Amino acid sequence: MSVAETPHKTSNDRAEPVQLHVAIVMDGNGRWAKRRGLPRTFGHTKGVEAIRRTVESAPDFGIRWLTLYAFSTENWRRPAGEVSEVMRLMKSYVDSDLEQLAQSGVKVKILGRRIGLTPDIAEIVARAEARTAQNDRFWLQVAFNYGAQADIVDAARGLMVAAVRGELAPEQLSETEFAARLSTGGAPPPDLVIRTSGEQRLSNFLLWESAYSEFVFQDVLWPDYGAKHLKAAVDEFHTRERRFGGSETGDILAAG
Ligand code: FPP
Repeated sequence: MSVAETPHKTSNDRAEPVQLHVAIVMDGNGRWAKRRGLPRTFGHTKGVEAIRRTVESAPDFGIRWLTLYAFSTENWRRPAGEVSEVMRLMKSYVDSDLEQLAQSGVKVKILGRRIGLTPDIAEIVARAEARTAQNDRFWLQVAFNYGAQADIVDAARGLMVAAVRGELAPEQLSETEFAARLSTGGAPPPDLVIRTSGEQRLSNFLLWESAYSEFVFQDVLWPDYGAKHLKAAVDEFHTRERRFGGSETGDILAAG
């Protein structure tokens, strides 16, 4: 993996490192498999290879934070065999790739509820985070048993507990304080949210954090995703004018 500091020409013509947070809804594994007459789970297996390609190439495009939506709180409704295959793939991905990720300076964070995970998955989640906790060059955040509404409720519950204990007065609560309690609290909000497969929905992903994100929808099924698709999405992002609620010519208010 290359260093996550890609020179980028600014309007002052100074080379400055761009550090982007890109979040991806990895959609289309099932359709990819179906089109080939294969079981849906085969699409997920191929999806892991697309994850590897994406993680490897992301720093080349100025990405420092990469957040991948791998398993939602709603995905438990899928057939048991498909759920257990996604769990198995998560485990085998960590078993096979963790050491290389750790040595490349990648910090792995798993977003989502720990409650509901089986003990073996909870163990690999804890292991991946502990092994890479000291890293900071590139963040790989995997949303797993994640739902944005659940994450917001969990943050609110934590605030209520703090208030009941007298540790926090209601008037002290700010957007910054609230955001810090989300499972994404350590990272900046995503600059760009990508969804593959042509669908145009957020599906309970990063509802709070994507308030000012740019969205790019790509007509490629996730198992086929690779560096050229990621580059195209980032190139599209760089054509967008971000205003963060400000006006076209006025000051841009820092939105974090
Ligand atoms: C969306 O495609 C994909 C998922 C819900 C699962 C993604 C999981 C992996 C790629 C593997 C496990 C994760 C890791 C981190 C190793 P879909 O099944 O909804 O596709 P469809 O819309 O075509 O049916």
